[in-house]
Amino acid sequence: MLAIIGGSGLAQLSVLEVTHRQVVRTPYGDPSCALTFGLVGGRNVVFIARHGYGHSLAPHEINFRANIWALKQQNIKGVVAIGAVGGIRPDMRPGAIVLPDDLLDYTSGREHTFFEGLDKPVVHVDFTHPYCPDLRAGLKKAAQAEAIEIVDGGIYACTQGPRLESTAEINRLERDGADIVGMTGMPEAALARELDLPYAMLTVVANYAAGRGDSEHKVDFSGASSVLDSSLRSVERILQRLLQS
Ligand code: HPA
Repeated sequence: MLAIIGGSGLAQLSVLEVTHRQVVRTPYGDPSCALTFGLVGGRNVVFIARHGYGHSLAPHEINFRANIWALKQQNIKGVVAIGAVGGIRPDMRPGAIVLPDDLLDYTSGREHTFFEGLDKPVVHVDFTHPYCPDLRAGLKKAAQAEAIEIVDGGIYACTQGPRLESTAEINRLERDGADIVGMTGMPEAALARELDLPYAMLTVVANYAAGRGDSEHKVDFSGASSVLDSSLRSVERILQRLLQS
């Protein structure tokens, strides 16, 4: 079974044939919402909406540990996470679908590890490649099979939010090598690694990052800006194809 984490604009998966929902509690507190179980492309999937069903949780309010722990308990083989991002690199235009291959973490103050407390061992997981190459390859192949254009590779910068960045901050992220910017990719990816879960992220550019592009594409977190929405439908087709293969 594969887990799918839905981000902004994707609180529900239209390609998911729901069989049941389950409320799960964890030693780290409650996940963002109940887990939804069902079938995509004939395969078993467990889905969770990162921000809760009504998009009620801001990025810094998400209990990433509870989400990842709850998914791990379902005997999953991996996690595909979906997230909306701002585009920094000029070709990361609104509507682009990007499969990042590395990340930079600028978050602070989030519960970001399972390995803390006197009863826990000191563990330093390898994070050389934060995103699972096999899952990435599967997503890339699925996109090709659906003739959906994606940007293969890119560096995802995770900021703390909930506010958007200043132009100078985006300039700094660009100097650091970042191509796209979001608020929820970390510590999610690292926590998945700590629990030995293959994890990949598929992101959709919702807007140009601050000081980039034109002013038409300001961030719209209200739900469905039409460009975001149409790319999210493509993302769903990629997921369906991934699970059929
Ligand atoms: N910055 C940070 N996170 C985001 C953005 C952005 O411009 N767009 C969507 N998520």
